[in-house]
Amino acid sequence: MISLQNWPCAALFDADLSAKTTMHVGGRAEWLLEPADPEELCAAYNAARERGFVPRILGGGANLIVDDGRLPGVVITTDRMKRCFRPSLDGASALDHEGPRSNVAPAPPASDPRLIAWAGATLPSLVQNASALGLSGLECLAGVPGHLGGGVAMNAGGKWGELWDSLELVRVLEPDGSVRDLARAECTPRYRNGALGERVVVSAILKLVPASVAAVREKTREYLSEKRRVQPVTEWSAGCVFKNPDPARSNGCSAGKLVDIAGLKGRVKGDALVSPLHGNFIINRGHATATDVLALIEEVRAEVAAVTGVTLETEVKVWRAATC
Ligand code: EPU
Repeated sequence: MISLQNWPCAALFDADLSAKTTMHVGGRAEWLLEPADPEELCAAYNAARERGFVPRILGGGANLIVDDGRLPGVVITTDRMKRCFRPSLDGASALDHEGPRSNVAPAPPASDPRLIAWAGATLPSLVQNASALGLSGLECLAGVPGHLGGGVAMNAGGKWGELWDSLELVRVLEPDGSVRDLARAECTPRYRNGALGERVVVSAILKLVPASVAAVREKTREYLSEKRRVQPVTEWSAGCVFKNPDPARSNGCSAGKLVDIAGLKGRVKGDALVSPLHGNFIINRGHATATDVLALIEEVRAEVAAVTGVTLETEVKVWRAATC
């Protein structure tokens, strides 16, 4: 049911969230707000705060496990904020521009190698647009699902690089509802952590490097095919479940390798499965519940600790129904 009941944007009551995550598990949100642009996002956030809610922000749901049951309060999705465009040629403040009516179109390498993206721009679309424009820097995100906002918040990336390597500026909503622009130099992103605290990403400017379209395409293709070879990219999952531990603590072993050493690949709980291809992925085979997935995560964590002495830290975020 679509409702505008007093919310400053489209809103759904009792909305199913499972289809909005790549793991495809979990329950419903009391309210799901769907802002269509940065202004509506700020208005929705402030309206929720005024009513006493601390809104949860849902990007592409690629690194998230939503608990079974009903989440009380407000979830704001960036699903409708997909725009990505190039800065205007007159050099005016880029983020204040609406951009062209359509999304960025392929063109020869730009003299201004920047892209502006709203929080809901998908990482695959950004990789594709940068590649079509001959702009290098986002190839390391080939095959990474999710939205720009979530990617900035968690510093998405992998062994070839991270999103924050290409950020010039991030526009955020502060917890008090005010909007602020953070230059890259003001931020201290770390491994899988944009270190933005409770701030909400509204949009960002990506600063890329001009290159040939062929070279960017080739690198993107190479990373993607390597990823497909070692990760279960076509299955329902939330990406890597655990952060890689400090190599000094784990004798240089990645989280996936530790799960592998502990003999847990193929372990099943209900319809949730530790990927036989990569130990750091849990797959929903079709009918898993969040309860299955969360129980399997804890089982893996405990057994890895018992066998290897390393306690793994979860990379995926979990939204518990009981805690708002
Ligand atoms: N390995 C095993 N067994 C396994 C899995 C891995 O022995 O079951 C070994 C591999 O052979 C390799 C090492 O562990 O020698 C590292 O594995 P991989 O190259 O697959 O990289 P990773 O450290 O597991 C990281 C990121 C991924 C990212 C890839 C590629 C983390 C937790 N994971 O994986 O990110 O895609 O590099 O760049 O940082 C994610 O964040 O969701 C994610 C998937």
